[in-house]
Amino acid sequence: MNTLEAIAARRSIRKFKPDPIPEEALTAILTAAQQAPSGKNRQPWRFVIVKEDQRPEMIRIMSEAITRHVAEGDDPGSSEWTAHVMEQAPVTVFIFNPDAIHPWMAHSIDQNFSELVDTQSIGAAIQNMLLAAVELGLGSLWICDVFYAYEDLAKWLGEKGQMVAAVSLGYPLEAPGPRPRKPLSELARVR
Ligand SMILES: Cc1cc2nc3c(=O)[nH]c(=O)nc-3n(C[C@H](O)[C@H](O)[C@H](O)COP(=O)(O)O)c2cc1C
Repeated sequence: MNTLEAIAARRSIRKFKPDPIPEEALTAILTAAQQAPSGKNRQPWRFVIVKEDQRPEMIRIMSEAITRHVAEGDDPGSSEWTAHVMEQAPVTVFIFNPDAIHPWMAHSIDQNFSELVDTQSIGAAIQNMLLAAVELGLGSLWICDVFYAYEDLAKWLGEKGQMVAAVSLGYPLEAPGPRPRKPLSELARVR
């Protein structure tokens, strides 16, 4: 499979088989992440891997935080469904930026710019993970609904930096077609 084929074949997967992911496949995915470009080659990513033995605790923490939000009158959005997806996936990788501060803290302009650069770098690393997963026959879901349990999950995972996203991985139990995209004519123009 070439790169363009992998880009076209990738889908967000929300149903996973229970089969575990071989250790070599997980290493290949993290190696792909590590090979992404990054601003000033800062490589501003840390990966915290949650495997099946820790999964019930991860889901408990996330579900409790969502329930708390709902009790406070907040809209849980898609977070309950996402937690259900994470419950099936044999592996969820959390991606942190160790140099960034929590989103609710006051940012200086310099901090804002460096985090803007780092977040792009982390996006590239995550996309590499998703494409490597395609190549290895694995499905993936890029997740930001973990923000509903931001403080609780970051504390439990033992990371002080900024939690940027999570990626659930596993063998896919569904084969969705391509999701709609805006036409290129709406998105790009020649000046
Ligand atoms: C930054 C980011 C955050 C996302 N967060 C979630 C999420 O929390 N839960 C979820 O089900 N999907 C999430 N997605 C997946 C998107 O919904 C999905 O990429 C989009 O609907 C297009 O579908 P496709 O990935 O199959 O092309 C996220 C995607 C990105 C890039």
